[in-house]
Amino acid sequence: MTTTQIVLTAAYLVTAILFILGLKFLSSPKTARRGNLLAMFGMLIAVAATCFDTHILSWRDILIGAVIGAPIGFVSARLVKMTAMPQMVALFNGAGGGAAALVSSGEFLKVLSGQTPASWVTLLPIVLSTIIGCISFAGSLIAFAKLQELMTGRPITYTGQQVVNALVLIAILALAGLVLTGHLTPSLFGGLAAASLLLGVLGVLPIGGADMPVVISLLNSFTGVAVAITGFALSSTVLIISGTLVGASGTLLTMLMATAMNRSLTNVLFGAFGSVKAGAAGPAAASGAGVRSASVEDVATLLAYSRKVIIVPGYGMAVAQAQHAVRELAQNLEKRGVEVAFAIHPVAGRMPGHMNVLLAEANVPYDQLKEMDEINPQFEHTDVALVIGANDVTNPAARNVPNSPIYGMPILDVDKAQHVIVLKRSMNPGFAGIDNPLYENPKTMMLFGDAKDSVSKLAAAVQSA
Ligand code: TAP
Repeated sequence: MTTTQIVLTAAYLVTAILFILGLKFLSSPKTARRGNLLAMFGMLIAVAATCFDTHILSWRDILIGAVIGAPIGFVSARLVKMTAMPQMVALFNGAGGGAAALVSSGEFLKVLSGQTPASWVTLLPIVLSTIIGCISFAGSLIAFAKLQELMTGRPITYTGQQVVNALVLIAILALAGLVLTGHLTPSLFGGLAAASLLLGVLGVLPIGGADMPVVISLLNSFTGVAVAITGFALSSTVLIISGTLVGASGTLLTMLMATAMNRSLTNVLFGAFGSVKAGAAGPAAASGAGVRSASVEDVATLLAYSRKVIIVPGYGMAVAQAQHAVRELAQNLEKRGVEVAFAIHPVAGRMPGHMNVLLAEANVPYDQLKEMDEINPQFEHTDVALVIGANDVTNPAARNVPNSPIYGMPILDVDKAQHVIVLKRSMNPGFAGIDNPLYENPKTMMLFGDAKDSVSKLAAAVQSA
């Protein structure tokens, strides 16, 4: 081994360690920033080491890539809105899958030109990485288009859809079999890539826009697997380790999200959830019968004279960007001696950790954010549960209506508090498209309006109460 090879191997090892530490630190909001910095630093070392690894790229190619890619990444990351983060992740993930497929295609060309032996040990990782990378690339682009509203977010379904998808899958397996058994032609390999891209598109079309975070997480794990397999094709330890980390964490996150919604992955992928029309939400959604509404003054007085208030944020807080106003309200309450905590449901909002990120951005202290299992027993000793733009994650139908689509989903037990105040704009349903009996509970009062506007008014009214 030459000195350069030893230095490069050490650099890749340091990168792998930094990625693992980065992931470890990302598991708590307190250390997440540090985790991100460590992983970024690891990536910098990996990119620098790869640049010096002259077997892989010329300096001219590296410069062209950096000049095009870096400004795009920098500007888009600076400009993206918090609510648009899922589609940004989808694009980045698609790029990863596409890159893995392109690198494998490059390796296939080497086999064709005789630079690498045409054994199945070489061909298997190339074929697998191309298939998975292409599926992840095309699927992520559709996920992006749905979330960015470039196409309908509703599930696109048609008769015989699953048969068509199964036929495309069979075609992929057949083409892969031919390539692996020595039929090495560019057209067969191109057909394999094209069929995999098609499966990525067809597989994501029937999934509703709101299920996209789960799909993106799943495609993210695909990209990880594709990258790890590419690592085998290139004999690159750092790609194998980082790809495996992405694959494993993506899979775990997918399972956690599905469990927190009490849905199987099969239901997310094939259930066409969200195709129910909003009008099908039931009579209460349309009429609001039996629902009491309150004024800002009523709610402010109730809050100001409470002993303990639990704030329950949801997707509506993200839409309204009300997090700063929410922090101000919490501080004004604390100044009056009211104990304030935040109840965080694992799938509140539309992406993992959505509420944690927004509240951290508004400088709400981490120790006030309580996970569902910790906060649920506290509701019965709470004067007011203040629900801000959350709906499904508070819906008691999940506990007691067996035929409800969300039956069995663990929820925040807000209805156990003495009073429940719900801030939202109308009686429209949330993501699941169903009624929320909480709104007709005699303990509940609705404060209708945009969450940011309502919370700002409440903060001011509490201050002067
Ligand atoms: P939702 O059930 O979607 O309810 C959000 C509520 O916010 C809506 O009822 C809406 O009512 C209200 N709202 C919207 N904009 C508002 C605004 N500007 N001001 C005030 N209110 C506003 O949200 P949730 O309780 O957070 O539940 C999340 C749902 O998403 C769950 O069903 C979960 O399974 C699903 N999901 C989550 C994830 C992740 S990872 N978090 C991923 C996929 C799916 P109005 O229109 O009447 O205002």
